Amino acid sequence: MERIAHDISESTVVDYNRLVNEFGTQKITDDQIKRIEQLTGRNVHHLLRRQIVFSHRDLDRILNLVEQKKPFYLYTGRGPSKGSCHLGHLVPFMVCKYLQEAFNVPLVIQITDDEKFIFKNQPLHVYQSYAKENIKDIIAMGFCPEKTFIFQNTKYIGQLYPAILEMQKHLTVSEVQGSFGIRGEENVGKMCYPTTQMAPCLSSSFPHLFPEKAQCLIPCAIDQDPFFRLARDVCRKLKYPKPCLIYTKFLPGLGAPNTKMSSSSSEDAVIFLSDDLTTLRQKIGKSFSGGQNTLELHKELGGNPDVDIAFQYLTFFMEDDHILEDIRDKYLQGELSSGGIKTLCVDVIQPILESFQERRSKINQDLINQFMKHA
Ligand code: TYM
Repeated sequence: MERIAHDISESTVVDYNRLVNEFGTQKITDDQIKRIEQLTGRNVHHLLRRQIVFSHRDLDRILNLVEQKKPFYLYTGRGPSKGSCHLGHLVPFMVCKYLQEAFNVPLVIQITDDEKFIFKNQPLHVYQSYAKENIKDIIAMGFCPEKTFIFQNTKYIGQLYPAILEMQKHLTVSEVQGSFGIRGEENVGKMCYPTTQMAPCLSSSFPHLFPEKAQCLIPCAIDQDPFFRLARDVCRKLKYPKPCLIYTKFLPGLGAPNTKMSSSSSEDAVIFLSDDLTTLRQKIGKSFSGGQNTLELHKELGGNPDVDIAFQYLTFFMEDDHILEDIRDKYLQGELSSGGIKTLCVDVIQPILESFQERRSKINQDLINQFMKHA
């Protein structure tokens, strides 16, 4: 089970309760949500309110630091497996943006071109060129350039290396094999890579940002947990602050509920941030529906919002709780058809894609340099 989270593919049906129990993470409680609201003086993000950000490790430690006015930083990442990020990737980055603004803290973003080269099949230069495109995607999500540092592993590796060495020295081959299910006949890069993703948990990887040891909080989807469980063990051995985590659920793929939208699915099963309106309409139009087979039956029996992909996407991207609740009720009563839900879904996602694409089209090298400068 341990390694399953890292192996989740587009066809895996995810049982989040089971993941929480078997991985030993905690569910985020109403009290923690209230505490975040008190500390930030604003409503919590809808992804937290709706338990899409659903579980954590040591969140209270971060909230205590905030209370004591002590610093922490955010760390997240992206593995550039394609030239465009998809709608699911937006989810942890939305959480980072909210946290960066609400707590006014630095954010470091790792781009793992090395990971994709080691685990996938194309030449290194292909993943390096995807990295370049994905970095533009991330900048276009609207992070503050003064407080955000983006680094690409094959370029920043020298600065990460001391932390990687510490991690490697305090981990055994069996621990890495056990967590990631790596077999003897696989390439040795798969054994080495995890410490590269763990290294940014040591703030010493960023001497230009953190002169002293600092605590980090990692927002990501639950599939990344195996890396950080190991990192927490090593940090304990190194007497370094253990990374704290908050985990999101997956934005489901277009074809089925409780799955994970994944870059490795076929192109028409994934909404890319580069998709235009026609493509978006087509894709949502074909998505898995919780409606009945005929309109008459639908009016009589109502639809099932819990499995309806268009409704699920609304829960991720529609901010207004009242409107969302109203849509849910109408769908359950059969007053709103599954076509109607799909139209609403397009209406919510289209402006998000449009403003993202507009910001992306304006990114120039100067702006990229601002986000990637170090030392
Ligand atoms: P990657 O590129 O697979 O995914 C980037 C981030 O998006 C999350 N994610 C999703 N979230 C919601 N719905 C989905 N359908 C979905 N698919 C992916 C991932 O959990 C991740 O947070 N190894 C990492 C790169 C990495 C990283 C990190 C991620 C390096 N350091 C630190 C998080 C934190 C990867 O390949 O992510």
